[in-house]
Amino acid sequence: MSEFGELHTYRICLLPGDGIGMEITAEAVKVLEAIALREDVSFAFAEAILGGAAIDETGTALPDATLEVAHAADAVLLGAIGGPKWDTTDPTKPRPEQGLLGLRKALGLYANLRPVRIFDALRDASTLKPEHLQEVDMLIVRELTGGLYFGERAREYGVPGAGGNGAAGQRAYDTMDYQEYEVERIARVAFEAARSRRGRVHSVDKANVLESSRMWREIVHGVHGTGYTDVELIDQLVDNTAMQLIRWPAQFDVIVTENMFGDILSDEASMLTGSLGMLASASLGDGTALYEPSHGSAPDIAGQGVANPLAMLLSVELMLRYSFAMEESADRLGRAIEAVLDEGWRTRDIADESTPDERLVGTAAMGDLVAERL
Ligand code: IPM
Ligand code: MG
Repeated sequence: MSEFGELHTYRICLLPGDGIGMEITAEAVKVLEAIALREDVSFAFAEAILGGAAIDETGTALPDATLEVAHAADAVLLGAIGGPKWDTTDPTKPRPEQGLLGLRKALGLYANLRPVRIFDALRDASTLKPEHLQEVDMLIVRELTGGLYFGERAREYGVPGAGGNGAAGQRAYDTMDYQEYEVERIARVAFEAARSRRGRVHSVDKANVLESSRMWREIVHGVHGTGYTDVELIDQLVDNTAMQLIRWPAQFDVIVTENMFGDILSDEASMLTGSLGMLASASLGDGTALYEPSHGSAPDIAGQGVANPLAMLLSVELMLRYSFAMEESADRLGRAIEAVLDEGWRTRDIADESTPDERLVGTAAMGDLVAERL
C-alpha cells in the first residue's frame, strides 16, 4: 500500500489483435489478476483494436484511437496480428503488419529483447538432441525500428527492360538503411544486458557484403571500446550464426543484430525451446514499452482454444520486470510456469507421444494452472 493506503494502479493497453490473439490475451489478464490479488497493486486494462481486426472496422491497421490508448498506458500487451483474410501482395491495400510496425515506430521501440530459455521439462520437445541444449540461455537483441523494415521501398511499373527480352515490366526494392545513432543505442542495450548476464556479445552482421553491416560493425566496436571492454565482443556473419545456432547454441549469451536478421534468427532460435509458442518478447524504447509473444496469429488453430498461452505469459513476466519493477512477482510467475511444465501439463504444440491424455490441456486450462500456482 502507498502512504495513503491506496493501491498503485498500472494501466495496461491490451491489443489482442487477430487469430489466437484474443484467446492468449485473456490468459494474460487472468494471470495479472491473480498477481494483483496478492500484491499491493492493481491493473487497469484498456482494450483497443490493431491489425486485421482494425482494418475490418476502420480500414486502417493502426487507428489513431489505438495509438492514443497505447501512448497513455504504462505498458502495452499485444496478442498477435495477421491472417489469410488480409493477405495481399497489392501495395495499395492495407496489411495487418502495418499496425504492428507503425506502433513500434510510433512508440520508439528500438530494442526488441527475445530471451531463449530452455525449460528442463521441455528438453525432449526440441527438434535438437537434448545434449545440444545443455546450458543454452541466450538473449536476442533485435534492432526494431530501422534497417530493411523501414528503409525506402517502392514498386514501379512499366520499367523499360524489367519484363525481360527488352519488354517493360515491374521493379521493386527495399533498402537496408541505418544511421549511426540507431546502431549506437542498440549496441549499448546489448552490452548492458550482457553485463548482467554472462558478459558476452555476438554482433551479427553481413559485413563481407553489405555496407550497412560494415558501418554497423565499426560502430559496435566503437561503443565497445568506450565503456564496455569488460564485455567480450565477437563479430559473426549472419549465415554463420544461422548455422551455429543449431550446431552449438550454448556459445551464445547476447546476440545483437539488425532488424530483419533478428526476425529470422529469433524464429530459428525459438525451436531450441521446443516451440515458437514458448518465445516471449519485450520491445523497449524511451517511453511506453510493448510486450508480445514472438509467434504469429496462428489462424489455423484460432478460436479452437488449443493455442499455447505460455509465450504470452512469459511476456507478462517481462512486463512485470521491465515496466513495473515487480521483480518478485516476475520471478514467481516464471516459477509457476516452470512448475506447470514440470508437472507434465502440455498444450498440443509442446506435447509428444509420452504426454498422457489427461495432461493435454487447452489455452484456458493452461492459464488456470499457472494462475493457481501463483
Ligand atoms: C515478429 C513478427 C513481425 C516482424 C511481423 C508480424 C511483422 O514476425 O515480431 O517477429 O516481422 O517483426
Ligand atoms: Mg518474426
